[in-house]
Amino acid sequence: KANPRLKKVFGSLVQHLHDFLRENEVTLDEFFTAIEMVNSCGRMSDDKRNETQLLIDLLGVESLCDEITYKLATDAPDAPTATAILGPFWRENAPKLPMDASIVKNEIPDAEHTYIFGKVTDFATGKPIEGAKVDVWHTAPNGLYEQQDPDQPDMNLRGIFTTGEDGKYSFYCLRPTPYPIPYDGPAGKLLKLLDRHPMRPAHIHFILTAPNYKPLVTQIFDRRDKYISNDTVFAVKDSLVVDFKPREGDPKAQLELPYDFRLVSY
Ligand code: DHB
Ligand code: FE
Repeated sequence: KANPRLKKVFGSLVQHLHDFLRENEVTLDEFFTAIEMVNSCGRMSDDKRNETQLLIDLLGVESLCDEITYKLATDAPDAPTATAILGPFWRENAPKLPMDASIVKNEIPDAEHTYIFGKVTDFATGKPIEGAKVDVWHTAPNGLYEQQDPDQPDMNLRGIFTTGEDGKYSFYCLRPTPYPIPYDGPAGKLLKLLDRHPMRPAHIHFILTAPNYKPLVTQIFDRRDKYISNDTVFAVKDSLVVDFKPREGDPKAQLELPYDFRLVSY
């Protein structure tokens, strides 16, 4: 049976698309080039490489949908924690780890180990949230997520931590590095043709879930990164930019980052 929402947005899409085609006098040659581009993204996409999402994200579509979906969330320091796009590299079933565990599974020379810790609280009451799951993932210093890189152990740099009564979480990871989105496929080819760089600012991804709270998909960004104001997929928000600080007296980490999350209940 017909879907009214789909009927509405499809009608609108067709209308805008026809306007776009007329306005730009798009030719058949260009049409077939675009078809081949989409097909080649589809052929490449699997659970290791989500090329279709990569292509679409370069258009700013995911980041605008994020803004539209969470339009009530503001970007102020005392507001609920701001959202950011999921991106193409989250994986289901990351290892569940105890507090203070490290998500770094391999020896990495000169890596900057970081201790991240904080509290997950209810935005409205400020009370700690027990049983919140903090799902975290980031790239290795070579700029690759574990599933893109045969040299990394499975599920490297991924983990899920569950808060106790005090709402606290803590773990070891690496200081993230600026990272070029995979550049050897159709999405990279498009960037080159547009004379656009492929860089994302250094970031760490999080998904927070807790019973009775709205899930929070977000990322934090390293302030020192020069791509912070020039993210190729447009995901940075001011309140998500953080400062890594030197850590004293911990042989396991040279840096630390206190970071609290404020969730909104249903
Ligand atoms: C995209 C997002 C990421 O977090 C990333 O590491 C690479 C690409 C994206 O939105 O396409
Ligand atoms: Fe990412």
